[in-house]
Amino acid sequence: MSDQRVALVTGSSSGIGAAVARRLAEAGLRVVVNSARSVEAGRALAAELPDAVYVQADVSVEAEAAGLVAAAVEAYGRLDVLVNCAGTTRFIPHHDLDAASPEVWRHLYDVNVIGVWQTITAAVPHLRKTGGAVVTVSSQAGVRPGGSAIPYAVSKAAVNHMTKLLAKTLGPEIRVNAVAPGLIDTPWFDGVEGAEAAKEHVAAVVPLRRTGRPEDVAGAVFDLAHSPYITGEVLLVDGGGHLLG
Ligand SMILES: NC(=O)c1ccc[n+]([C@@H]2O[C@H](COP(=O)([O-])OP(=O)(O)OC[C@H]3O[C@@H](n4cnc5c(N)ncnc54)[C@H](OP(=O)(O)O)[C@@H]3O)[C@@H](O)[C@H]2O)c1
Repeated sequence: MSDQRVALVTGSSSGIGAAVARRLAEAGLRVVVNSARSVEAGRALAAELPDAVYVQADVSVEAEAAGLVAAAVEAYGRLDVLVNCAGTTRFIPHHDLDAASPEVWRHLYDVNVIGVWQTITAAVPHLRKTGGAVVTVSSQAGVRPGGSAIPYAVSKAAVNHMTKLLAKTLGPEIRVNAVAPGLIDTPWFDGVEGAEAAKEHVAAVVPLRRTGRPEDVAGAVFDLAHSPYITGEVLLVDGGGHLLG
């Protein structure tokens, strides 16, 4: 099915973002693929999709976030769906307070919070014209006290609150939602000490008895982007992990 609508997916050269780009393309949307560093992977994905372009931009840099949105609109003339998937972390045990330095806090906030903010604000005029939707990839770490590092978890909690505030502010023209994944098997964990044990643990304890796949999150992102009466929602995609005590 062909579709004239246009989606911009930040952080889509890999993992969850790549699955989101594929899911939207399968439904016929034209897709703008993005990453800050992995240019070859981003270009390869765009080439594989029926109608897609790749734009390199670091969403934590204000001019680059604005330039990314402008490039998407220049390529396709409109913007209907913005998926904020670009994100980063450091793996820091929560008791290691010194390692969670102000520099780490600033870096994670720059990408995970301010990067999302400045991409959304650049996109708002275009999304207003199309009655568009924003979906941000947050984390269960922003809902329950856990995750790769305290600054990471707090950055995702901030994005959850930003989602609700913007949903109130930008309706009725623009819907704003988030997904909060549990442990999803992606290159995010490549080379991380203890990652395999963490995956085995999750698969053993969550009600759905497996870790998540990027496609699981992509399906939830797609559904929120296409649900006309849902806004301000933060949807857990965690195999039921939030039900554990
Ligand atoms: N995997 C999980 O278990 C999990 C769980 C909860 C939430 N999440 C969230 O899901 C999102 C995607 O993670 P993933 O698991 O798919 O990891 P991934 O495979 O490492 O993908 C991360 C993507 O973000 C891009 N990126 C990073 N910093 C960027 C920046 N400043 N500007 C633009 N793009 C940037 C990366 O490309 P470059 O590095 O080349 O720029 C890559 O395309 C993140 O927001 C993460 O917090 C993941």
